[in-house]
Amino acid sequence: MQILVTGGAGYIRARVCVELLKKSYTVIIADNLSNSRIETVEKIKQLAGKDDVIFYKIDVTDASALKSIFLSHKVAAVIHLAGFKAIGESLEKPLKYYYNNTVSTMTLAEACIKYDVKKFVFSSSATVYGENKVPFVETMELRPAANPYGATKAMSERILSDVARANPGFSVSLLRYFNPVGAHESGLIGEAPKGVPNNLMPCLTRVARGKMEKLRVFGNDYPTVDGTGVRDYIHVVDLAEGHVAVLEKLAPGVHIYNLGTGKGTSVLELIRAFEEANKIKVPYEIVGRRPGDIAECYADVNKARRELGWKAKRGLLEMCRDAWNFEKNYRE
Ligand code: UD1
Repeated sequence: MQILVTGGAGYIRARVCVELLKKSYTVIIADNLSNSRIETVEKIKQLAGKDDVIFYKIDVTDASALKSIFLSHKVAAVIHLAGFKAIGESLEKPLKYYYNNTVSTMTLAEACIKYDVKKFVFSSSATVYGENKVPFVETMELRPAANPYGATKAMSERILSDVARANPGFSVSLLRYFNPVGAHESGLIGEAPKGVPNNLMPCLTRVARGKMEKLRVFGNDYPTVDGTGVRDYIHVVDLAEGHVAVLEKLAPGVHIYNLGTGKGTSVLELIRAFEEANKIKVPYEIVGRRPGDIAECYADVNKARRELGWKAKRGLLEMCRDAWNFEKNYRE
C-alpha cells in the first residue's frame, strides 16, 4: 500500500516514514527540503532496512507537481506533515506562514478529492488549544492561537473538517502533537534544525556539547511546580508509532487525537532528567519569560488509548539519552 508523506525528510516525518516501512507500506515522500536534508532519505531506508521509498523534491503548494504524483502512483492515504513551524518567524513573516501552511493543506486536500484518495492524516499541534485548562482534551473549545503559526494549524484543522463533512466517505485524522523530543536510538535521525534552535531540547543538547554557554530558562514565576514552564514531552518514536496506529484505524469522518504522554514536566525537571540520563552538567540561567509562552500544556491521552490502542511507552530518561546520542553523532 502506498502512502504519500509530505515533508517526509524532516525530523518527525523521517521517523514516521521508518515506522511505515517497518509495517510494509511503500512510502512516497514529497518534500521541498526547505528545512530538511536529502541524506535523510537514505537514512530512512537504512534504518528500516527497506528500499520502498520514492522521493519527490516538490513543494506541496504546487498543484501540478502533486498531480503528477497522484497520476503516477496509487496513493492509499496521505500523511500531511509539511509546514513551517517556527513561532518567532511566523510573527515576523505572517504571510509566509499563512500562505504556505494553509495553501499546502488545501492543495493537497483538493488533489485527494480529485484523485479519489479518501484518507487524510494531518499533523496538527497542541498549540491549537491556546491557554486552556490542563489536561487538554480533544473535545475542548479551542482558544485563539497566540501566533500565526498556531493559527495556521487551527485553520488547517477547520479546512479539513469542512472538507470531510462535504465529502461523505472522506476520512480526516487531526493529530495534535505535544512536545516531540528524542531521536532514533541509533543516533542517525534526530532534530537538526537549520540555524539557531528555538525549542528546549535542541538548545539543551547544544549547551551540553559546549556549542552554547548556558541554557536560558524562560521565566521561573509561572504558577507551576517550580515556577518554570510545564510541557508534555513525547519521544519521537512513540509519536511516529501513533501515526501508524491512526493509519490502521481510519474511518470516515473527522477524528481528533492528542499525541502526548499525559505527563507534565517543567524546564528544570527536564534539565535534571537530562543530567541524570547522560551524566553531564547543563549550566543554565533564569531569564525573563518568552513572549507567547503559556504556563502549562499537557495532554489527556485517554481517547488515543481507547480508540487506537496506542500509548507512549518511552520515558524522560530515554528521550534525554536518545537526544544526546544524536547530538554527539551529528556532524554539521
Ligand atoms: C512547541 C513548539 C510549537 C508546538 C508546541 C506544541 C516552537 C517554538 N514551539 O512549543 O510549535 O506547537 O511545542 O507541540 O517550535 N524553554 C526555555 N529555554 C529555551 C527554550 C524553551 O526555557 O531555550 C522553555 C519554554 O519557555 C517552554 C518549554 O521550554 O516552557 C518548551 O519550549 P519549546 O521547546 O520551545 O516548546 P513550546 O514553546 O512548548
